[in-house]
Amino acid sequence: MIRFGPEASPPQVWAVEDDAVQICWGDLPPGPVTATTGAGDARPAAVDHGGGPGSLDLTGLSPATAVTIELRWTGGRAELSATTLPAPPGQPLTRFATISDLHLGAVTWGALRTMADRSDHPVPHPYRCASAAVAEAVAWGASLLVIKGDAVHHERPEHFEHLARLVDEFPELPMVLIPGNHDVDARAEVIPTTIGDRRLPYIRAVDHVDLPGVRIVAADTTVRGRGVGTLDRVGPAIEARVAESDRPSFVAIHQQLQRARLPRYWPAGIAAPASTAFLDRLDRLDGPVTVSSGHSHRNRSRRHGSVLLTEVASTKDWPGVWAGYAVHEGGIRQVVRRIAAPAAMDWTEYSRGALFGLWSHWSPGPLDQRCLTNAWAGDRSYA
Ligand SMILES: [Fe+2]
Ligand SMILES: [Fe+2]
Repeated sequence: MIRFGPEASPPQVWAVEDDAVQICWGDLPPGPVTATTGAGDARPAAVDHGGGPGSLDLTGLSPATAVTIELRWTGGRAELSATTLPAPPGQPLTRFATISDLHLGAVTWGALRTMADRSDHPVPHPYRCASAAVAEAVAWGASLLVIKGDAVHHERPEHFEHLARLVDEFPELPMVLIPGNHDVDARAEVIPTTIGDRRLPYIRAVDHVDLPGVRIVAADTTVRGRGVGTLDRVGPAIEARVAESDRPSFVAIHQQLQRARLPRYWPAGIAAPASTAFLDRLDRLDGPVTVSSGHSHRNRSRRHGSVLLTEVASTKDWPGVWAGYAVHEGGIRQVVRRIAAPAAMDWTEYSRGALFGLWSHWSPGPLDQRCLTNAWAGDRSYA
C-alpha cells in the first residue's frame, strides 16, 4: 500500500489491562516477533509476523505492576515499559464491548476525502475493520456488544445492507444499536426500524439491558440532518432508567457531552449548558454512572463529579479500536484495544496520514485515558 503523511507507528504498548498488555507496531519486517519481560508470572509472547503492521499480547501479568518488555524482531529490538491496571475491587461479574463510527459504506477518508483503500482486499475497509473488531471483542470475552452510532456512512439502503451483513455475522452475540448523525443524514427517513435477519432494533429513543453488575442504557441523541446531538428528547428518560436501576449504569450515546456551549474541537457534540446540567443530575443520583460516546473518532476520558465520561475512537480510522468493559462488584475497567487483524491494521496505519498527519497525534489520546480502572466511590459493591 502506498503511504503518505507520517511514518508507520513505532512499536508501542497500546493497551494495558490488569493482567495483559497489547503491543502494536506499524511496520516491522517479516519473521518472528517476540516479547519477554523479567516478571516471573508473565508468559513470553511470540507471533510469526508476515511483515507490515501487527500486534501481540503479553499475558499472565500481575495487576498494578510496572514491567519492562523486550520486543525483538528480525534485525531489531526495542525496550518498552508499561504498568498494568489495578483490577476493580470484588469479583468479576460480566464483560461487554462497544464499537462506534463504523461508517460502513465509506470509501474515502481524510479532510479532502482523498485517502482511499489501495489494497486489493475484496472486503471494503470499513467492513473488515468492524467485523474484526467484533470478533476480537468476542474472543476477549464480551457477552454483549453496544454499537454507539455512525454504524453506516450515509442513510442509504445499500449502506444498511452492510450493517445487516455485519450483525448477522454474529447471530449469537446480543447487541444494542443506536444511531449516530450519519445514520440519519438523509432528508427523508430511510433508516430501518430493525437490521438484519436477526431484526436488531435501531433504538430511536431510550432502552436498557441489565447485565450482572451493570445496566446499559442506550439512547438516540441524533437530530435529523445535523451533526450535533441533543438531550431534549431522551435526557429525562435516561435519568429515569439510571435512577430506577439497582446497579451501576453505563450510558451509551453517540455525540460527546461538551464542556462548553461552543465546541472546542471538531465535530460538535451536545452543547452546554444542557450537557453539564444532565451530568449534574446524573452525578446526584445514587448509583455510579459511566457515560460513553463516539462521534469524535478519538479516545479521551474525563470526570464530572462522580460520573466517568469516555470517548472512544472509530473502528475504521487510525488507530482503529474497540472498547472492552470488565465489570466487577466494586468497579469497572475500560480497555481500548486496537483492532489487531492485519487486514484492518493495514488500513488504519495508512489512515494516520489524514489532516497531513495531524490525525496520527490527535485521535489516540493518552494511554491512561484509554485504559483505566474506576472503583466505585466509598468502596461500594454491587453483586
Ligand atoms: Fe463518525
Ligand atoms: Fe458522528
